Amino acid sequence: MATPSNEPTFGGKQSRSMRIWHWSTFIIIMGSLVTVLLAKTIFNTRSNIALVKDSLQENNIAVTDQQARSVSHEFNDLLWHWHIYIGYVLAGLFLFRLIFEFFQPAEQKLIPALKKALNYLKMPGADKKETKHYIVVKLLYLFFYFSLFIQTCTGLFMVYSDDVDNMKDIRHTTSDIHSVFMWVLITYIVVHIGGVILAELGKNKGIVSKMINGGK
Ligand code: HEM
Ligand code: HEM
Repeated sequence: MATPSNEPTFGGKQSRSMRIWHWSTFIIIMGSLVTVLLAKTIFNTRSNIALVKDSLQENNIAVTDQQARSVSHEFNDLLWHWHIYIGYVLAGLFLFRLIFEFFQPAEQKLIPALKKALNYLKMPGADKKETKHYIVVKLLYLFFYFSLFIQTCTGLFMVYSDDVDNMKDIRHTTSDIHSVFMWVLITYIVVHIGGVILAELGKNKGIVSKMINGGK
C-alpha cells in the first residue's frame, strides 16, 4: 500500500546552492532578454539611421546613409556585446547547476526524485492525480535545463564562429535555433511563474519563501 509518507510532494527544503542559482539565473535571464528587446527595438540599426542623420544635420554636418548606418550599428553592437557578457555568466551558472546537482541532498536531486515519483505511481493506493502533476512539473524542469543547454551551446558557438568565413551558413542556422529557443524559454518562464503562483495560493503555501529562506 502507498503511504502518505512516501508520496512525492512539493515544498520540500531548498539547498543554499539551489537558492543562489535560482535567483541569479532569474536576474541573468531577465537581463539577457532586456538586451534582446532593446537591440531589436529602440537600438535597432535601421530605425536609427534617420535619427543620426537628422541630429548631425542640425549641427550642419552632412553624412551619407552608409555613414549614419555605421554609427547606428555601433550602438546596436554595444548591446550585443552586453548580451554576450551576460551569456557567459549564464553559461557559468548552468555549469554550476550541473556540478552542484551531484552534491544535493538525495531527496532534492531531480532525476532520483522523478524516478521515486514514477515508482510511487505504480503502488496501490497512490494519489495518481497529484503524483502525475508532480511528474509533469519535474519533466518541465528537465525540459528547461535541456533548452538552457541548447541556448548556451548555440550562443557560445555564435561567439566562436563570428569571424570564421566558411561557417557563415551554419552560423545562420545556429542563430535561427537560438531565436526559436528564446521563445521556448519565455514560454517556460510564463508557465513556471503562473504555476508557482497557483501553488502558493493553493495547496503549497510558502513554496516561494522556501526558495528564499530554504525552508525549516
Ligand atoms: C536566456 C538566454 C538567451 C536568450 C533569450 C538569447 C536570445 C538571443 C536572440 C533573440 C538573439 C538574436 C538572434 C538573431 O536575431 O539572429 C541572440 C543573439 C546572440 N546571442 Fe543570445 N540569447 C541567450 C543566451 C545567450 C548565451 C548564453 C550566449 C553565449 C555567450 C549568447 C550569445 C549570442 C550571440 C553571440 C548572438 C549573436 C549576436 C550578433 O549577431 O552579434 N546568447 N540571442
Ligand atoms: C527566469 C525566470 C525563472 C526561471 C528560469 C526559473 C527556473 C526554475 C527551475 C529550473 C526550477 C526547478 C529547480 C530544480 O528543482 O531543479 C525552479 C523552481 C522554483 N521556482 Fe523558478 N524560475 C524563474 C522564476 C521564478 C520566479 C519569479 C519565482 C517566484 C515567483 C519562482 C519560484 C520558484 C519556486 C518556488 C520553485 C520551487 C518549486 C518546486 O519546489 O518544485 N521562479 N525555477
